[in-house]
Amino acid sequence: MPSKSTATHYGNAAVTIHWLTAILIIALIGSGFNAGDAENAAAKAAFLRVHIPLGVTVLVLTVVRILWWFFADKKPDPLPMPVWQDRMARAVHLLFYIVILGMAASGVGMMVLSGAGPIIFGGSESALPDFWDFKPRFPHGIGGRLILALFVFHAGAALYHQFVKRDGLLGRMWFPRSKD
Ligand code: HEM
Repeated sequence: MPSKSTATHYGNAAVTIHWLTAILIIALIGSGFNAGDAENAAAKAAFLRVHIPLGVTVLVLTVVRILWWFFADKKPDPLPMPVWQDRMARAVHLLFYIVILGMAASGVGMMVLSGAGPIIFGGSESALPDFWDFKPRFPHGIGGRLILALFVFHAGAALYHQFVKRDGLLGRMWFPRSKD
């Protein structure tokens, strides 16, 4: 079970971080918008008790991922595709990193400035602040919509490659089968 990537396949470490991050981002978008829309303080705090630890986990995974690519591994060769598609894919991947780091920074910023951590995790939800009183709330809301758009675009492009072009793109981002 190679942890590093080859010229044709992502390695186990990259595959694990990729799919774990994908699942956590879906959970973050769901819990984030539910927290943002919740009118009731107890419900908002309940969503945030899930959202915040997941957000911190994605931050750690993203830092590990950046260090992994920088110091330990090399991406597989790109599949043959028009230059504009390759450039677009690279731009979307870079934007993912920027938006994830920005979301984590603005999320931590909201918590530090509002001092809401002990309220959310300590159980006295009635004192929950209005996060819109703090500057990082605005970019966090924009970033939430941007990451949702990136996610739809990225997943749509992967499905197009897999099922329309049939170039086996998804198989590169999965664990090797025993015959490989
Ligand atoms: C790293 C990935 C993250 C993603 C993708 C994400 C996503 C979101 C989304 C989509 C919303 C709803 C925005 C809206 O309703 O306009 C939201 C709200 C929120 N997020 Fe995050 N978030 C992340 C990290 C964090 C972290 C690390 C923290 C705290 C340390 C955090 C704290 C919050 C808070 C407090 C709200 C609710 C604000 C409110 O109720 O008005 N988020 N998040």
